[in-house]
Amino acid sequence: MNEATDKAIAKLRTTAGDAAPKSMRDAFADDPQRFDRFSARFEDVTLDYSKCAVSDAVMDGLYAVARAADVEGRRDAMFSGEKINTTEDRAVLHVALRNRSNRPIDVDGEDVMPEVNAVLDAMGQFAEAVRSGEITGATGKKITDIVNIGIGGSDLGPVMATIALKPYHDGPRAHFVSNVDGAHIADTLEGLDPATTLVIVASKTFTTVETMTNAHTARRWIAGALGEEAVIDHFAAVSTALDKVREFGMDEKRTFGFWDWVGGRYSVWSAIGLPVMIAVGRDDFGRFLDGAHAIDEHFRTAPMEENLPILLGLVGFYHREICDYGSRAVIPYDQRLSRFPAYLQQLDMESNGKGVDRDGETLDRHSGPVTWGEPGTNGQHAFFQLLHQGTDPVPVEFMVAARGHEPELDHQQRLLLANCLAQSEAFMRGRSLDEARRQLLDKGMGEDEANRIAPHRVFTGNRPSVTILYEELTPYALGRLIALYEHRVFTEAQIFGINAFDQWGVELGKELATGLLPVVEGKEDTQGHDSSTAGLVAIVRRMRGE
Ligand code: F6P
Repeated sequence: MNEATDKAIAKLRTTAGDAAPKSMRDAFADDPQRFDRFSARFEDVTLDYSKCAVSDAVMDGLYAVARAADVEGRRDAMFSGEKINTTEDRAVLHVALRNRSNRPIDVDGEDVMPEVNAVLDAMGQFAEAVRSGEITGATGKKITDIVNIGIGGSDLGPVMATIALKPYHDGPRAHFVSNVDGAHIADTLEGLDPATTLVIVASKTFTTVETMTNAHTARRWIAGALGEEAVIDHFAAVSTALDKVREFGMDEKRTFGFWDWVGGRYSVWSAIGLPVMIAVGRDDFGRFLDGAHAIDEHFRTAPMEENLPILLGLVGFYHREICDYGSRAVIPYDQRLSRFPAYLQQLDMESNGKGVDRDGETLDRHSGPVTWGEPGTNGQHAFFQLLHQGTDPVPVEFMVAARGHEPELDHQQRLLLANCLAQSEAFMRGRSLDEARRQLLDKGMGEDEANRIAPHRVFTGNRPSVTILYEELTPYALGRLIALYEHRVFTEAQIFGINAFDQWGVELGKELATGLLPVVEGKEDTQGHDSSTAGLVAIVRRMRGE
């Protein structure tokens, strides 16, 4: 571990003990400028972290930690194509995929931008031809439905973005199959017409068992209805493993590549975004990339004190390491961001859920927290009880648009906004025992009953929340929001001292599943497996009459 970071964190811990506000209500009452001091803006995005228990001294301590961990130096290394993913010896260049300035970015001495632009252009031509009907299915019918088959980063980004951009969706309907559970593909294909369906197989490695199994099922579905020779007209592929795509029998003209320097969870900007592009069109996909690029430039150039991703990262680190909060809730008050929390779970937890530092030494501090969430206002009627009164404070990250896309339903947008702002205020203010008692007495309750009930109606307050406010959820705004979170995860990873770009933790389960399949199939016995696994396999076999 980096000694300078250790020291800066130790100092921050002491500072926080002395200088972090103990009562957020008092902090706001004492300082009318608190919002101005602890919020930052970029374009129409406001990041408000004033309801977190920070002070000037705490922020200075956090900046010192970021400097000790060389967040800015490591950021520059990422942007310049250095191989910062050291366990896989790879550069980390999702920023190149949306490098709208076209500034050369070299990997192994070669500028990657010409290839990036060529793939984007090929995707654009294909997407527009599908949308216009110039490219049809084997029988000459226009494509009305696309089915993306992928999992993890080859699914979560495109699903999330397609849902988020519904008001811009004027292309074929988009469906997504990820789970190896046959129910997923069966339910998705039910009601679709093979003659008007285009299947996109999206897999960075083109070996992922879920994706390849579903791809073969879809292939049988097309071939069964239209004949083997129709398959080529109903499939497209996105992968870095072009040789494997060829083996599957895909048309090279419908194969879109990307590169090992694009992590799966950072790949929605690459050809993995093809279903989004077919849904909303090349121009809006371009605006999505523009938004991400704007945040990249901001992250790359803005001073720490004004840098939204760095600030969000520092607050996240503060909550995890100094305040010891084990999870954070991401609550979009924006129904179209309903899959954003799921998307962030992979982005955040696959990146920062690590147990060793960059040198392989066991971490002696925390790495990333559990990230979870659901849209508001739904969450209010489910788990917000625990957020308000549970024994473990959970920092909340709200996101909300000032304007919706439905002017005729603007009164609902106002209601949504009021709920979002009210929740963050309630988390911060809380309600004391005395206030609870007085409220009950004012309602006419007797003194004894009021004393009995009041403790149940106490809210401790001082529950931290961050609010990200933007004008409207456009493609550009969505691009910005995702990039903001990507760089927040990056910032935190540098302070944790970990490699955010590998994911060895997903391997063990995959290996064991491969070993267990012949056992479940009854081709091998359970010898060598623990008694729980063996016992469960025996019950499964009995239930299946085997
Ligand atoms: O589950 C691990 C993982 O490798 C993710 O990182 C990745 O996004 C997902 O599987 C899918 O991988 P692929 O795109 O290679 O099919």
